[in-house]
Amino acid sequence: MKTGKIVVISKLKGGSGATTLTRELATSALDAGKSVAIIDLDAQGSLTNWWNRRTAATPDAGPKLIQLSPENLPDMTEKLRGKFDLVLIDTPPSTHDALRKIASKADMAVIPTKPTPDDLDAVGPVIRQLRGVVPMAFVISQITNKGSVHRTGTDIR
Ligand SMILES: Nc1ncnc2c1ncn2[C@@H]1O[C@H](COP(=O)(O)OP(=O)(O)O)[C@@H](O)[C@H]1O
Ligand SMILES: [Mg+2]
Repeated sequence: MKTGKIVVISKLKGGSGATTLTRELATSALDAGKSVAIIDLDAQGSLTNWWNRRTAATPDAGPKLIQLSPENLPDMTEKLRGKFDLVLIDTPPSTHDALRKIASKADMAVIPTKPTPDDLDAVGPVIRQLRGVVPMAFVISQITNKGSVHRTGTDIR
């Protein structure tokens, strides 16, 4: 019986890099020999689309895609822990209570953000929602070498 880890990838803003990070975590864990499940709670379905493409190309190599509704997920976490080393949950851009409930069953919330003032502003509500609920880690993604954060912040016309 495994005692897998559950990681929820949370953010308030679309485009933060959550789905990309979920894919990277999944493939890195697979490369390390771990069994991995992914759950796509975002109605946009980007993670599912990626999984479909990847599975068509390499049917046996990928993570397992688990299809569950957000309401049913909290009750399924212990079962998932028993089956996989790592369960990654990609979420829609929001901070509503269903996500808080899911996060309360997770071992960690990973919060990606771009390094712009607007994006960093959107991290606050996620922290307020998850503080005391689950340990959080932050990933700054999509850093470009075109300018500094300060430059971006003053670039509003
Ligand atoms: N680290 C990165 N480097 C370059 N492009 C990225 C990176 N992370 C995300 N992107 C791109 O940014 C866009 C939004 O990323 P996505 O993972 O879909 O964000 P979210 O799931 O938070 O909405 C996509 O076009 C994706 O390819
Ligand atoms: Mg996404």
